[in-house]
Amino acid sequence: MQKLFIANWKSNKTTSQAEQFIREFVDALDLGNLSDTTVILCPPFTLLSFVSQFIRANDLSLHIGAQNVSPFPTGAYTGELAAELVHEFCEYVIIGHSERRTNFGENDALLFKKVEQARAEGLKTIYCVQNELTEVPKPVDYIAYEPPSAIGTGNPDDPEKIGEVFDHLKIKYDESGLLYGGSVSAENVTTFTTIPNISGLLVGGASLSAASFASIISAWK
Ligand code: PGA
Repeated sequence: MQKLFIANWKSNKTTSQAEQFIREFVDALDLGNLSDTTVILCPPFTLLSFVSQFIRANDLSLHIGAQNVSPFPTGAYTGELAAELVHEFCEYVIIGHSERRTNFGENDALLFKKVEQARAEGLKTIYCVQNELTEVPKPVDYIAYEPPSAIGTGNPDDPEKIGEVFDHLKIKYDESGLLYGGSVSAENVTTFTTIPNISGLLVGGASLSAASFASIISAWK
């Protein structure tokens, strides 16, 4: 089973900062030796073109995800990015992050449409849930359990609690891989790696530094 490490850069990094990150990151980690590991960078939309060209030009085994996608197809939707446009640069997309729900009023109905659009264009979907009761449209490729109390707070969820939430999700959504996100750091990463059924980690703050993101990946043997 591939382990996924997803860097959610949120609304951070200019082009030069992204380039510096990738250069430092590939120096810090021997990507060629990590055959069971998938690393997915999720930069802001402004960097998707640059990051994908940089990865291709340097033949790096890194993958790209978007942090959001339009619930509509291409067309007259000012300010939106349709799945077809996103798919030109990305294989993956994060949908339903709690920051989208809280700051932009995104609800289940809207998020379900986003998943539909993403899947229709062949994007792999990473759907965020805030607890075991969050509705998930079927099917999605991955479900990321991200309790809002753990996001950006330095207080990750208790590994036992994560295991319990995974048990619930496994019963309801057997076809999806399970991820955890919320204050994952190089210091605490090993507390999550032994949780039954965990397929990977979604990392926010600690993915902004190449050194700390590389340490997180190296720590999961
Ligand atoms: P965090 O963010 O690692 O900074 O807590 C995780 C996320 O929001 O995906």
